[in-house]
Amino acid sequence: MSTGANNVVIALNETEVAKIYEGDTRSDIGSEAEKMKFANGVNKLVVRFVRIDFDEEKQWEMLVMERLYAMDYRSIEFEKRELIFSVFEDEIAALHRAGFAHRDLARPSNMPGERYDNVLLTGSGLRLIDVGISALRHQVGDSLFERFIEQETEELARFKDFFLNR
Ligand SMILES: Nc1ncnc2c1ncn2[C@@H]1O[C@H](COP(=O)(O)OP(=O)(O)O)[C@@H](O)[C@H]1O
Ligand SMILES: [Mg+2]
Repeated sequence: MSTGANNVVIALNETEVAKIYEGDTRSDIGSEAEKMKFANGVNKLVVRFVRIDFDEEKQWEMLVMERLYAMDYRSIEFEKRELIFSVFEDEIAALHRAGFAHRDLARPSNMPGERYDNVLLTGSGLRLIDVGISALRHQVGDSLFERFIEQETEELARFKDFFLNR
């Protein structure tokens, strides 16, 4: 089911997906899981972490998480989208205040694929996946974190335009 840039993501069942880490990426999967759990402790915006698993047969590690079902923005009327966006904005702000910056709302414009593929519209509003390059204030320090927040706030404004007007 993956259209991501780096990792393969497979559906395990109706409610769970797993992001596959092949080779010696223990630190990557551990760090991604930690960041996901941190954000889960703040609010429901970031996809919920379930567990880390190891597939003996295939010899790969898996980050198991809640499975999200994305809907097309165009199926939602404008007024409702405005409401959904304002909730999203509040939840991102709460993550920022808590010391979490997602940093990957949009992929670089020179990269192929859906620009906002880490922001999913679901039946319960907008949700974020892929905390691979997310940053925690206590890990990166105040000055870098503030810069990430500035960049994310600008990106959020571009996403707003896209989400409301496409
Ligand atoms: N929790 C999830 N529920 C449903 N689909 C997901 C989930 N996580 C990832 N995906 C799908 O897999 C793709 C790649 O996952 P992602 O975490 O963004 O990895 P990458 O680092 O490769 O971008 C996503 O663009 C999305 O299509
Ligand atoms: Mg991604």
